[in-house]
Amino acid sequence: MPELKVLFSREQIAARVAELGRQISQDFAGEPVVLLGVLKGAAIFLSDLSRHIELDSTFDFIAVSTYGDQTQSSGEVKLLKDVDQSMEGKNVILVEDILDTGLTMCYLKKMILAHHPKAFRIAALLDKKSRRLQPIQADYTGFEIPDVFVVGYGMDHAEHYRNLPDICVVP
Ligand code: IMP
Ligand code: MG
Repeated sequence: MPELKVLFSREQIAARVAELGRQISQDFAGEPVVLLGVLKGAAIFLSDLSRHIELDSTFDFIAVSTYGDQTQSSGEVKLLKDVDQSMEGKNVILVEDILDTGLTMCYLKKMILAHHPKAFRIAALLDKKSRRLQPIQADYTGFEIPDVFVVGYGMDHAEHYRNLPDICVVP
């Protein structure tokens, strides 16, 4: 087991996630939202974020695969699980763990926009801006990070470490 270094503590994460929830609550005041989580990495972020959103909210989930067991992207996006309900006319907030190259988000954005939602926003806990290959930005970002590989708070390395309460760097 490699030695992991804490990048963001559970307290830092909690404070930032609460802020994002307040921001979303203000931006969509009086309107219902669909929190659309990208499995599996965003599961913990979505569950915490949702409890700071004071709006009529529903959940949906999609699953894609970009990374195999490695820390390098294959560059390919494959849809493993589609939405359960149409996003037509809905205020959709796509909840993702990390915006990295942007390939996944571009693919998902195109897919969701084809449903003709009322609004489409991206909430990404982490943003590796320097790695971007596709021009896409999050509307709500937790933290910007450099080009390091992180695990914890839902994020994995070969499916492990998702349950770590802090966000850690794998050396
Ligand atoms: P993108 O398509 O390159 O933007 O890939 C985004 C996805 O890659 C994220 O949703 C993560 O699932 C995964 N990913 C990117 N960087 C990391 C990391 O540092 N740790 C764990 N997963 C990562
Ligand atoms: Mg992901």
